[in-house]
Amino acid sequence: MRYYNGPGIKTGTSRMKHVLVTGANRGIGLELCRQLSERGDEVIAVVRRSSPELEQLGCRVESGIDVTHPEDLARLQARLGDLTLDLVISNAGILSNQSLGKIDAAAIEQIMDQFRVNALGPVLLAQALRSRLAKGSTLAIITSRMGSIADNTSGGSYGYRMSKSAVNSAGVSLARDLAGDDVCVLLLHPGYVRTDMTGHSGLIDSDESARGLIERIDQLGMEASGGFYHANGEKLPW
Ligand SMILES: NC(=O)c1ccc[n+]([C@@H]2O[C@H](COP(=O)([O-])OP(=O)(O)OC[C@H]3O[C@@H](n4cnc5c(N)ncnc54)[C@H](OP(=O)(O)O)[C@@H]3O)[C@@H](O)[C@H]2O)c1
Repeated sequence: MRYYNGPGIKTGTSRMKHVLVTGANRGIGLELCRQLSERGDEVIAVVRRSSPELEQLGCRVESGIDVTHPEDLARLQARLGDLTLDLVISNAGILSNQSLGKIDAAAIEQIMDQFRVNALGPVLLAQALRSRLAKGSTLAIITSRMGSIADNTSGGSYGYRMSKSAVNSAGVSLARDLAGDDVCVLLLHPGYVRTDMTGHSGLIDSDESARGLIERIDQLGMEASGGFYHANGEKLPW
């Protein structure tokens, strides 16, 4: 049985819901932590370095965790003790731009870094935390519609697009691999959001994005596992 049954409506047992969010010190991750804490979930904010804004929320903060370092993720796993997680949001990500004709040695490193953080990071996180995911829990991966091959009408952004396509592929594998554990895996696009990543250009702010993402997580169950959705509810093409 899932713990959430429609936007904001909690069902199931009365025990505390434990939620883990990566990339929690700023941007969309920070706002997810804020809204989930405000509604009463027990949030574990995972960061490389905390921030004053995150500290103000008063939630549990696990620092020093780079999602590309298996030894950091093993440390995180050990620090969680015997905690069971109801929701993991794999949100940490990076963006840099590479254009055709300018893919030199430095750009290749940037592309590989995006693969490491955006594509491999969520897989390593899932691997490290798998044993903690409760039956009926959700693993939400924050991807991007820039990873959609069908939706690519403007080209460019080689590293970001390839890394987000790759994480979409990994998300479907995770959905298949975790189906037997009754864990739902969602690939969620947050919208075009005004954060550090976009130089604060975008169509919406982090609070609206986080609200939509939480609504989708609340709403979507096993029948949607392995699906690719916009935070506004639209099903996105691969
Ligand atoms: N903003 C948008 O319009 C948009 C659109 C589509 C998808 N997304 C996706 O949404 C997610 C959040 O983006 P955002 O806009 O909130 O970006 P942001 O403000 O730049 O925040 C990115 C977060 O990821 C963390 N991070 C980066 N590399 C990491 C690593 N190796 N290990 C651990 N944490 C790491 C950062 O931590 P540090 O402070 O330590 O660097 C930061 O907390 C990303 O996956 C992004 O690709 C965003």
